[in-house]
Amino acid sequence: TPTFQIRNFCIIAHIDHGKSTLADQFLLKTGTLQEREMREQALDSMDLERERGITIRMHPVTLYYTYGGREYELNLIDTPGHVDFHYEVSRSLAACEGAILLVDAFQGVQAQTVANAFLAMEANLKIIPVLNKIDLPQARPEHVIAEMEQALLIDPAEVLRVSAKTGLGMDELMAAVIERIPPPQGSVEQPLRALVYNSHFDTYKGVVVYVRIMDGQLRVGQKVRFMRTGREFVVTEVGRFRPGMTRCEELSAGEVGYFTANIKTLEYVNIGDTVTDALCPAAEPLPGYKEPKPMVFSGLYPVNNDDFEDLREALARLKLNDSSFTYQPEVSDGLGFGFRCGFLGMLHREIIQQRLERECDIELVQTAPNVTYEILKRDGTVVTVHGPQDVPDAGQIQEFREPIVRVSFLLPAENIGAIMQLCTDRRGTFVRTEYLSPKRVMLVYEMPLAEVIYDLYDKLKSITHGYGTMDYEFIGFRAADLVKLDILVHGNRVDALSVIVHRSQAERRGRAILKKLRDQIDRHLFEVALQAAIGSRIVARENIAPLRKNVTAKCYGGDITRKRKLWAKQAEGKKRLKQIGKVEVPQEAFLAVLEQE
Ligand code: GTP
Repeated sequence: TPTFQIRNFCIIAHIDHGKSTLADQFLLKTGTLQEREMREQALDSMDLERERGITIRMHPVTLYYTYGGREYELNLIDTPGHVDFHYEVSRSLAACEGAILLVDAFQGVQAQTVANAFLAMEANLKIIPVLNKIDLPQARPEHVIAEMEQALLIDPAEVLRVSAKTGLGMDELMAAVIERIPPPQGSVEQPLRALVYNSHFDTYKGVVVYVRIMDGQLRVGQKVRFMRTGREFVVTEVGRFRPGMTRCEELSAGEVGYFTANIKTLEYVNIGDTVTDALCPAAEPLPGYKEPKPMVFSGLYPVNNDDFEDLREALARLKLNDSSFTYQPEVSDGLGFGFRCGFLGMLHREIIQQRLERECDIELVQTAPNVTYEILKRDGTVVTVHGPQDVPDAGQIQEFREPIVRVSFLLPAENIGAIMQLCTDRRGTFVRTEYLSPKRVMLVYEMPLAEVIYDLYDKLKSITHGYGTMDYEFIGFRAADLVKLDILVHGNRVDALSVIVHRSQAERRGRAILKKLRDQIDRHLFEVALQAAIGSRIVARENIAPLRKNVTAKCYGGDITRKRKLWAKQAEGKKRLKQIGKVEVPQEAFLAVLEQE
């Protein structure tokens, strides 16, 4: 296909605004799949995604469509629909010349719509604004168009109206894709430059690399080089997604497809990298590459220590399909052998945990999440901290830094006061507000990521009765008054229970942890002191009163079977007791404190 007959585009939309349904319409409209096949083969493939009802990643697809007597090649590339995958969204956008901005005609503009629309505009994509679900009786197109104009500077005259469900308006949308989106630039004569925008692992073929060819050509037998890693491979297969993997001879500048090259691990294939010809390499890689950086960490421990090796294998298998996930063995006083895992965000973490539980039958404990910190030491070096165990002694710390994100909310105007209060309580800094209509407002704050990850989203949903949405992006590390809070059981520090907190919250957090511990540790013959400390300064304290009577005294009367049961229960408990100094701490105590509520 000559490049002037190619169009590369994506659909950006908030969750549930109809992206998958619209993608299905494209398949139907172009005859790529029949209705019958469609039911059997939905575009989003991962079971997990289907169960959760949200698309994390849809397959790309190449469509052919005749318009004005010419056949066009249309490549629909999906953008992942969640804030955790911001960087991947930006790379998918970089593979396109245009974007359909899909907005639900009832729900209106949402936080994710705004965030992704701005990314697309920054990437210089031609935006086609589309109202979806206009078949709904409660659709309010005029209001929503006004919001799009206000929030995104969309020209109302350009907005199309469709129903992805019934197919209404699809002819106009097809025409707009072809007429409004510019054909790709780039030259077949130049050395190969292909943008890696995604990949997956295939047991038989190895890594399948999803590429957009910017310049040159890609063929079977060609020796290619990944410019980031310098790794070279010989291409074994080239093809397009139709939507199944379909081989072809070659891919040329402007086209979208995949290749395989017996690549055994995803570690060599970084999203955003540039593939070039090894014999005739391009001078410069494509711009915009970033290392994938996990932002949220938590410990993952098998409940039964014998499952450690099985867990290691399961993690290795997961990693094959997800290069942004990281894991490292670690040992904890209380939990034994496990792994410290890094995730792009909380959804990513949840997905991985669910996948693990499904794919390997291991009972797992996941510790409360923490973000990545940076510490500038007095000797001038900067260390990255993935958990409290990495924090150096207070005397060595010059500056403690935490990740900051810019959070955008879209809310009913009546909730703005409550959300501003919430942000203030979470150490947020106000940036701006903007009214999209008298009833809906956009609110922007800068906030520590640590304050966002726990339950900000849940709080937002409950305050706004489900009508508020939020999105955030990482903007950098900033110095903050952070401390490592230690927990002492009868004078002995328990490493596994340390947490990193803001100094202003240390006392409250400490008290909460001690209360949980107190409920889990049995009485001893002496009084057990539980303390929370910053360095040598105690900030909170709880006591467990000494035992006064024999435990069996609890059993009224002389019912021997009851006594037996109690002894048996104690014996069972013993197996999992951990001795800290003179105090016996059951494993449940660690779980209660470390596990996320
Ligand atoms: P994620 O996968 O979560 O990103 O959602 P999505 O944007 O892909 O939305 P999806 O296509 O799954 O549609 C969400 C819901 O809206 C489904 O129940 C669809 O049937 C419904 N829906 C989509 N388009 C239309 C439409 O044009 N009209 C009506 N009435 N419902 C629609």
